[in-house]
Amino acid sequence: MKLTGNTILITGGSSGIGLAFAERFLKAGNTVIVTGRRENVLQEAQEKTPGLITRVSDLDSEAERIALFDWVTTNYPEVNVLVNNAGIQQRFSVLNADVKNDWSYFAKEITTNIEAPFHLSILFAPFFAAKENAAIINVTSGLAFTPFAIAPIYSATKAALHSFTMGLRLQLSDTSVEVIEVAPPAVNTNLGGAGLHVHGEPLDAFADGIFQGLEEGKSEIGYGTSVDRLRMSRDDIDKYAANMYEATKNMIE
Ligand SMILES: NC(=O)c1ccc[n+]([C@@H]2O[C@H](COP(=O)([O-])OP(=O)(O)OC[C@H]3O[C@@H](n4cnc5c(N)ncnc54)[C@H](OP(=O)(O)O)[C@@H]3O)[C@@H](O)[C@H]2O)c1
Repeated sequence: MKLTGNTILITGGSSGIGLAFAERFLKAGNTVIVTGRRENVLQEAQEKTPGLITRVSDLDSEAERIALFDWVTTNYPEVNVLVNNAGIQQRFSVLNADVKNDWSYFAKEITTNIEAPFHLSILFAPFFAAKENAAIINVTSGLAFTPFAIAPIYSATKAALHSFTMGLRLQLSDTSVEVIEVAPPAVNTNLGGAGLHVHGEPLDAFADGIFQGLEEGKSEIGYGTSVDRLRMSRDDIDKYAANMYEATKNMIE
């Protein structure tokens, strides 16, 4: 994709990976709109990053997703890039999950990580297809390829988003819309709660690495360990997932 002169909507761009991408896109000469549920976090992002446009929006609501599409395309009709970045991660033991009384807690991960990016992609695809240049960037995870057993729904949502992204890319291959997948490894953000990803890659180095991949025109971009995981054999996936479970199984009760 071209890296300058775009108008870019980044979901969940108020913190972490989305904000790091927003800062880089702004610096490269793009108009950038970020969304999130918490107004105060969006405000902090705007203070830290002058020029950032913000919009409060809860992507778990179908009506709010449609309202976001309508608001962006009315107020910024030149919008030509969607980054489906918002996501949540929940770790739990399937032996202690109170799904009888609180399935909604578990379903939320499916709604935020799958339903929202699917819906937004399908809303924007025809709008973008009429443009000269456009792109949809979906943020999946290395865990789409090597499941993290203590976050089983999360890993499955990212595998689903990877599959959807492949289908979207093929369907849009005769249009101007590029479809790009970013599959991060663990990155030091507050994903899942403060302190859970401190072992991850430093955020700035990771974001710079992904921008290098964008500059090189890659359609699937990993970083660090996720580069190999994107292309791993089935036997290696089994070993990788089992080793990860051994090392982390004490983190859930
Ligand atoms: N960090 C990692 O190790 C890692 C690894 C692989 C993939 N990823 C993926 O990278 C993406 C960004 O994660 P991150 O690490 O940057 O985590 P983060 O710092 O927690 O950022 C998540 C962002 O999503 C927003 N968000 C969450 N639920 C939302 C909803 N229902 N509606 C609208 N916005 C919502 C959050 O803002 P509000 O809470 O204010 O809504 C925040 O801006 C996610 O898709 C994640 O799965 C992260």
